[in-house]
Amino acid sequence: MLVLGIESSCDETSVAILKDGKEVLANAVYTQIPFHEVYGGVIPEVASRHHVKKITYVFEEAFRIANVKKEDIDLVCVTTHPGLIGSLLVGINAAKAFALTYHVPLIEVDHIVGHIYANFIEHDFNFPMIALVVSGGHTELRLMKDHYDFTLLGETLDDAVGEAYDKVGRVLELTYPAGAKVDKLSFEGSPSYKLPVVLLDKDSYNFSLSGLKSAVINTVNKCNMKGEEINKADLACSFQTSVIKVLVSKTIKAAKEYGVRQVVVAGGVAANKGLRLALASAVEAELPNVELSFPSMKYCTDNAAMIAVAGYFKYLIDKKNN
Ligand code: KG4
Ligand code: ZN
Repeated sequence: MLVLGIESSCDETSVAILKDGKEVLANAVYTQIPFHEVYGGVIPEVASRHHVKKITYVFEEAFRIANVKKEDIDLVCVTTHPGLIGSLLVGINAAKAFALTYHVPLIEVDHIVGHIYANFIEHDFNFPMIALVVSGGHTELRLMKDHYDFTLLGETLDDAVGEAYDKVGRVLELTYPAGAKVDKLSFEGSPSYKLPVVLLDKDSYNFSLSGLKSAVINTVNKCNMKGEEINKADLACSFQTSVIKVLVSKTIKAAKEYGVRQVVVAGGVAANKGLRLALASAVEAELPNVELSFPSMKYCTDNAAMIAVAGYFKYLIDKKNN
């Protein structure tokens, strides 16, 4: 079965072609990051215009790489939410036009579910499992007992992890998106600044990151007012250490409480080296029988391959139920 995936929820235009929901034949991604960098964040109107301009080209690129014909596609999957409405509409309209032209079913995919299924491209799922979702817009812990069987255990009450990284990066004078740059810088420093580790109520799986983000911004402002120099690497390291402590402790707690067989990490922040190392050593020490998986770097940030995988499973489940 050949599955076409389309993703345009934010600042990446992507089209992928997968065989049987797993084998990636093509995953063409056009990123708009250089255009948004100058503004320090994504400008929705600029993003929609770039999607309109590039989507046909990205489509052609995917079919060229996969070396398949358009009429060979059996299923179309597209991100319908959450995301920037103008950007989403570009992908949705392209998907509808394709499905109508080639008479194939169209599956709506939740972008967050897509990030979780990015793990399936290179690893199988062993249920029950915990999914730690850490992206630019979301921070969640979900329990999955089967394909498409989600229980939300907790989520952020304010900033998402990626958002906090980008805002902290801005005060450290790093360009957008700053997550990977803060991650890299943190390995050059030590956690010498005292910053909060916000765990909330001990039984809660919710997250709160705005206090930590504000503490970093206040530290920078205070230093500037006093004319003191900031050790940027130490501040990045202190911030990253606090974030990771929270993410790791809640993920391990949830994995223990629900007796899971696997932990998967999803979203752009799954690319974070500090998080990868800390979670791997915590799982090894505390849950030696639990499998831990991260998507490879190219499937951490937005891409259509993950949308095709997620849509393929949704299609199979819908078919079974009807
Ligand atoms: O999942 P994603 O592509 O977008 C959403 O669906 O929101 O994630 C993008 C986010 C950005 O905030 C970016 O700064 C962050 O992921 N990010 C990282 C790293 N790489 C990307 N954050 C921390 N460490 C990284 N290595
Ligand atoms: Zn995303």
